[in-house]
Amino acid sequence: MVAEIDRNPWRSDFSVLNQTMHGKRLAFLDSGASAQKPDVVLDAVRSALADGYANIHRGLYEFSQGKTAAFEAVRRKVADFIGARDAQSIVFTRNSTEAINLVAQSWGRTFLKEGDEIILTEMEHHANFVPWHILKNQIGIVIKYIPVLDDGALDIGALSELLTNKTRLVAFTHVSNVLGTVNPVAEISKIVRKFSSDIKILIDGTQGVVHAPVDISAFDPDFFVFTGHKLYGPTGVGVLYGRKELLDSIPPWQGGGDMIERVTLDGVAFAPVPAKFEAGTPAIAEVIGLGAAIDYLNAIGMDKIAAWEQKVLHYATEKVSAIEGVCVYGTTAGKAGIISFNIDGCPDADIAMILDRCGVAVRTGHHCCQPLMQRFGVEGTVRASIGLYTNKDDIDQLVAGLLKARDMLL
Ligand SMILES: Cc1ncc(COP(=O)(O)O)c(C=O)c1O
Repeated sequence: MVAEIDRNPWRSDFSVLNQTMHGKRLAFLDSGASAQKPDVVLDAVRSALADGYANIHRGLYEFSQGKTAAFEAVRRKVADFIGARDAQSIVFTRNSTEAINLVAQSWGRTFLKEGDEIILTEMEHHANFVPWHILKNQIGIVIKYIPVLDDGALDIGALSELLTNKTRLVAFTHVSNVLGTVNPVAEISKIVRKFSSDIKILIDGTQGVVHAPVDISAFDPDFFVFTGHKLYGPTGVGVLYGRKELLDSIPPWQGGGDMIERVTLDGVAFAPVPAKFEAGTPAIAEVIGLGAAIDYLNAIGMDKIAAWEQKVLHYATEKVSAIEGVCVYGTTAGKAGIISFNIDGCPDADIAMILDRCGVAVRTGHHCCQPLMQRFGVEGTVRASIGLYTNKDDIDQLVAGLLKARDMLL
């Protein structure tokens, strides 16, 4: 097993990993926050801006037509990547956060009224909390939560008790960015659909699409979101998948160029979906970069990436758990490549600063999941997250850094 993760077959695709940090070999274990980019993505972004660059959807000249075609081709690629049938149901946003805000403000403000209920989970990233709290303040919806069990699993049994004839939406993450828990998305979806086919389902796929193949047709969501920069693509581009007829039925969230059919002094007719939701000049180079990332991942195969990451996770869990005083949060079977932990008596921020000096990049703090921190009674954790390029040396460097931190802090 150990020898198997000695040589990572894809690491050399990421020249950026040859950098040092404080003069030390870089062990980048913060892909959950934002992944490093393979050279092919960096090249694609540069080329999108340098070769035949022009704005899209407007110009009749060759450069504009070429970039429009390249941009629109990514819509199809994204649809295929997540198993969505219709490319027109893919809306480009800035990130997952903007995609969820779009749903809250467009669908939520159109279809929800005071007293309507939505169900989230205690493990949501703030991106899937705060937009709904804004809506609660705006129109008085009621928010309920599926609890998290001690091992980091969702208490699925509680869902049936939370569903009522006032429930309008169930919105939950596929994979927890703190615990690594892979939620039983298809099962949750089935429970909700069986209770009522009118309840909408939103899945935050941000941490799911990066670790394993995803086919949303098995999840049957109304909305599904993810973000490009965690999927080895550029920042500034995210994705909202929406069931086409649902997207047709809700108003635009932002107005401006590119999202209209016709504007007169008296009013506006909006463009069809997805243009209706893409006001202003989009992130052209970033979308093209995301397309390059998807091509790269497809060429490897997400199933191969998942298998590799599982081996690294297994090794890392064994080594980190063996350190005296370590408490790991999230121990469910089949979890994704994320380990959150604390070391008894050692503040997480102090651990991170010592790790930084050892060339090890991890995330600490609340991970934009303060309700989950409250659930586990901690202020924060250390989080090491695994990417497709992570290898045994990264984990060994982490463990050596943790032992050093423990010695220094206790
Ligand atoms: C599960 C989850 N959802 C949503 C987000 C938000 O992503 P972004 O900041 O790219 O919108 C994150 C980022 O960490 C996340 O982990």
